Amino acid sequence: MRHLLSTRDLGREQAIELLDIAEDMAAVQQREVRKLPTLRGRTVVNLFFEDSTRTRVSFEAAAKRLSADVITFSAKGSSVSKGESLKDTAQTLQAIGADAVVVRHQASGAPQTLATSGWIDAGVVNAGDGTHEHPTQALLDAFTMRRRLHGDASRGRGLDGARVVIVGDVLHSRVARSNVWLLDALGAEVTLVAPPTLLPVDVSAWPAQVGYDLDAAIDAGPDAVMMLRVQAERMHAAFFPNSREYSRTWGLDDARFARLPRTTMVMHPGPMNRGFEIAASAADSAQSTVLEQVANGVSVRMAALYLLLSGEREEAA
Ligand code: CP
Repeated sequence: MRHLLSTRDLGREQAIELLDIAEDMAAVQQREVRKLPTLRGRTVVNLFFEDSTRTRVSFEAAAKRLSADVITFSAKGSSVSKGESLKDTAQTLQAIGADAVVVRHQASGAPQTLATSGWIDAGVVNAGDGTHEHPTQALLDAFTMRRRLHGDASRGRGLDGARVVIVGDVLHSRVARSNVWLLDALGAEVTLVAPPTLLPVDVSAWPAQVGYDLDAAIDAGPDAVMMLRVQAERMHAAFFPNSREYSRTWGLDDARFARLPRTTMVMHPGPMNRGFEIAASAADSAQSTVLEQVANGVSVRMAALYLLLSGEREEAA
């Protein structure tokens, strides 16, 4: 794999291979010494132009557990504030010796630009670009679902027939977009439930059903309900939904959570708006996979960095 930019570039076999390697990495996390020497001498640069807790820390942990050198760059406090361009910033970090660049950027397409412009030689991992994609989040979500559904028999499997409901601000969600394509490749059936104003105009071309009745979706007893954060920072204030009205219609509140089958996974990529799109009773329940998703993120990102940096360089797409 040369770059990891989009789940649309991953076929079923490549996705399952990555999830299986993540299982190997998870086994390493259980050992007393949670480190592998695999990427000794390689340098991973985390290039974050947008805020992050989970993804940034998780990539840093993943690279360190593979013995890579890690440089974490945040745009805040850097020469980006003096007007330095993406190209000059990336080439500066390449000059320091980056073998892989993990990039989060507010502009959709920024990782693709870095990967295809010829500005740098390093492999590029998309850690979330604008409203476009967040492939490692989708991979860790799929890894979490596969483990909950198949346990020790997960290896080599997809998510065939799993019913996943993704709820909320689909329009601004790179997590939803990456999940829809990956879950489809893995054989899952996806239903998007959202206010019509928070659906993308091209949603009919996505491999997913669309619904507007969260109660009906919940009563159908899905295998997983993935709640999305309402992304106020990407909305004009005039379009920001009334919180009480939004919770009543689109939120996983106490009443809806009580009706969910006890086997349904409650997922959220984080950060959560508690009491808005998800009630604390759901977020903190035994059905919640929120912290499991975070823990699994390290294994999945170890697998992604391993595939990028330890194997032969070949085009992913
Ligand atoms: N899920 C996710 O991308 O979280 P962060 O913004 O904290 O990285």
